[in-house]
Amino acid sequence: MDHFAYTDGRLRCENLDLIEVASRFGTPTYVYSRATLTMHYRRLAEAFAPLKPLICYSVKSCPNINILRELVALGSGMDVVSGGELHRARLAGCSPEKIVFAGVGKTSEEIADALGEPDDDVRGPDAPEAAPIGLFNVESEQELLNIAHIATALNRPTRAALRVNPDVDAKTHKYTTTGTAENKFGVDLRRARDFFRKYARHNHLRLCGVHIHIGSPVAQAAPYVEAITRVLTLIDELAAEGIVIDTLDIGGGFAADYRTGQSLAAADYAAAIVPLLRERVESGRLRIILEPGRFIVANAGVLLTRVQYVKSSGARKFIICDAGMHTIIRPALYEAFHFVWPANVSPQHEPPDGVRADQLDLPGLERCDVVGPICESADFLCQNRLLPPVARGDIIAVFAAGAYGMSMASRYNSHPLPAEVLIDGQHARVIRRRESYHDLVNAE
Ligand code: LLP
Repeated sequence: MDHFAYTDGRLRCENLDLIEVASRFGTPTYVYSRATLTMHYRRLAEAFAPLKPLICYSVKSCPNINILRELVALGSGMDVVSGGELHRARLAGCSPEKIVFAGVGKTSEEIADALGEPDDDVRGPDAPEAAPIGLFNVESEQELLNIAHIATALNRPTRAALRVNPDVDAKTHKYTTTGTAENKFGVDLRRARDFFRKYARHNHLRLCGVHIHIGSPVAQAAPYVEAITRVLTLIDELAAEGIVIDTLDIGGGFAADYRTGQSLAAADYAAAIVPLLRERVESGRLRIILEPGRFIVANAGVLLTRVQYVKSSGARKFIICDAGMHTIIRPALYEAFHFVWPANVSPQHEPPDGVRADQLDLPGLERCDVVGPICESADFLCQNRLLPPVARGDIIAVFAAGAYGMSMASRYNSHPLPAEVLIDGQHARVIRRRESYHDLVNAE
């Protein structure tokens, strides 16, 4: 699953003791395991190898430039959704043709930037070369017309895929379902057909792809199978009319192991998806793109936080930490489960077989809420959870925090953003320094 495990009651990441890491770098700190990151990328790449896919890591899940560089070194492309993410992908050295640009609200400035004509005021002095990207994932008719207009004006022909909404329920949280008819994403299958008929032969914008992304996380393969089957029918209907679709981007959404055994293995997703597409890929008719974020990076990170105070109020016991909804918002926003456990426990409180679950059957656990310092009742890391006894000053780990952890962190209540540390074997390196109060007010 990952390289975070207990030995002699102490949590380690690869070869390092995380209590020592917390003392050295302070808290709250996101800690990433390079070996885990690499392992997850490779598992996905190997499982889908028969499709020779372009893997475009979804930058939004964990956009630290150093994480991007690690993935670029493994051959990854990047899925970006803003000019800022595009900037990061370029700075990380990603080949421009391996960058896909999605998102419902691309501005004209962002589009021009992606076509290789950036606004250098926004990009700043250290801006990397702005070569044109490989593919736009288009979400609406107005957006398509805008990209076509800008590409024509700049005389920079480009390629696009249309994001199709296949109306499939990915059975995830209502805030992270994207592929049903009620969602704002993409265009429905009927409109998609007309869309291609109308725009497939534009001079400066080659509309040659179909893009889907049905939700996140999607813990089963069946919704992918349903969605892909639907868009393959569309692709075949269009082919019969002489409209060639040569690219299918099946999006991201592959789940992570928040609870032990929760996610499918890469091989399980691939076993269902590869047979649908293999023949088309082998005959050179279709190129496949994947946009995984969470699968690669969620289990590669934990959040370390220090207990500030322990108190009882009414019937409840609260463990008050220096991380909260400003550090990791997923529990508050999606009622998401993260395994939360002290980094230093007595041997009897080591999670048996490393299992991470809502309830562990161990003696002497206490029911408590782990909360942060923010002035909001939604400020919790977990509620009503059985935990080993903890005291002021202890370090607590929030597991599987690598995806949508730091990337959604805020400075709410004027807390500087946490540090990020990358561990490689016995080496720990700060990949984002902890912000200071100076950083808080610097732009004001
Ligand atoms: N492609 C598109 C078009 C997306 O919108 C997303 C995620 C991905 C790829 C990557 O999905 P992944 O492989 O990471 O599941 N903040 C939420 C998740 C929001 C996902 C947004 N889109 C969370 O913390 O669960």
